[in-house]
Amino acid sequence: MNDIRTSVDEIADGIYRISTPVPPSVVPGGFTFNQYLIRDESPLLFHTGPRMLFDAVRGAIARVLPVETLRYVSFSHVEADECGTLNRFLALAPRAQPLCGQVAAMVSIADLADRAPHALADGETLSLGRHVVRWHDAPHVPHGWECGFLSETTTRTLFAGDLFTHFGERHPALTESDILEPSEEGRRAMDYYAHAPDTRARLGRLADTAPSTLALMHGPAWRGDGAAMLRALAARLG
Ligand SMILES: [Fe+2]
Ligand SMILES: [Fe+2]
Repeated sequence: MNDIRTSVDEIADGIYRISTPVPPSVVPGGFTFNQYLIRDESPLLFHTGPRMLFDAVRGAIARVLPVETLRYVSFSHVEADECGTLNRFLALAPRAQPLCGQVAAMVSIADLADRAPHALADGETLSLGRHVVRWHDAPHVPHGWECGFLSETTTRTLFAGDLFTHFGERHPALTESDILEPSEEGRRAMDYYAHAPDTRARLGRLADTAPSTLALMHGPAWRGDGAAMLRALAARLG
């Protein structure tokens, strides 16, 4: 893809949003693919981006830290934009391991990945140095049996994956404006939720972690009362 413009912004202490806009010719309406990089003794990348953006994402990471020092490559579920270049990052970073939930490890990553995954149980934590991440199982929310989310406990950042997906290619790096209505507008045209029976309860459990930053995969990062925002989303999903 020509004319790739990838931005890098620190959206919480030591947590960087890497964002690449793509035009309507690639995704109808235009879109953004975001990755999040935690700079620490054990650097962690959340989402790899799709293969078409590998060079852009690698270059953006290198603006923050040497790519070969990555220790964990993590993601919410198995899709191109979540982990499509996992093996390419594992090849570049000799100490890097996939970091995912137990279902993803069992069903896909133990086979797909070139290095054995570090699988986290629901609620399990992992120290990266001064940051600590926790895994939250969320099967089928919004989609994929293996789906789950990672949060960072010291900054109360929830890496929210596809939740609150925004269409359009222009978004601020970090906003305090409403993210529910713009994402619901997009979902009316393209409903990507599995609508599993326990979706509301799963979102309620994420709300209980009281995040102050929601790091969206598509759209801006958001700062505010994350518990209220997640409960508002749950109410809309019914
Ligand atoms: Fe997805
Ligand atoms: Fe996504």
